[in-house]
Amino acid sequence: HARLRGVVALDGPSGTGKSTVSRRLASALGATYLDTGAMYRAVTLAVLRAGVDPADEAEVARVAREAQLTMGTDPEAPAVFLDGEDVGREIRGPEVTGAVSAVSAVAAVREQLVAQQRQLIEQALLSPGGMVVEGRDIGTVVVPDAGLKVYLTASAHARAQRRTRQDIAEGRAGDLDRTHADVQRRDALDSSRPVAPLRKAADAVELDTTELDVAQVLERLHELVDDRGLRV
Ligand code: DC
Repeated sequence: HARLRGVVALDGPSGTGKSTVSRRLASALGATYLDTGAMYRAVTLAVLRAGVDPADEAEVARVAREAQLTMGTDPEAPAVFLDGEDVGREIRGPEVTGAVSAVSAVAAVREQLVAQQRQLIEQALLSPGGMVVEGRDIGTVVVPDAGLKVYLTASAHARAQRRTRQDIAEGRAGDLDRTHADVQRRDALDSSRPVAPLRKAADAVELDTTELDVAQVLERLHELVDDRGLRV
């Protein structure tokens, strides 16, 4: 069986197909998988449940400190637990999606989650198979020495279409106009925040997925893994 050596970092805005291709790449390579966006979403859920204003940085930081996050790293069944409760479904809802940019802009939250992410990655690399890590700042901040860094992009229209299809497929209301506006609003917030803004690492390979389907993106990722000698 082919195995991945080390870490593949996949960054980019939402709706680029990042989660789908990250999970499939990890499965194909016998690697584990870490969805860092799910961690920011779970903290956001804790903030909302606590009735805290996402703009209140001190209170958001306190809730984050007290929240117990546990991540399942199997790419076939990624999981996120908040204080022992499986919140995988709830963190994809509109309330969390609407507040997550504010929460993920808080420096203390990022510091805490980046530390936890590095621990999870270190732990994962103790067993063979490597790890595929997806997020916004994996190549720039979390794992600057990743063996392969990919920055996925796609037009805002294509990303809004994918998000809407995904919402419908997962049983949520699909609203293309609203999703398009939300995609643009979150891009602007995620790219302009002072701490760890969304940007391509200097040494990341940029891959525009606007005109590519999942199989084509995966094919390109496998080529990149091979080019770098990361398949062992
Ligand atoms: O990938 P996603 O849509 O589940 O991410 C949710 C939010 O979390 C996104 O708006 C930005 C933030 N995020 C972040 O700031 N850093 C990461 N490494 C991952 C996600």
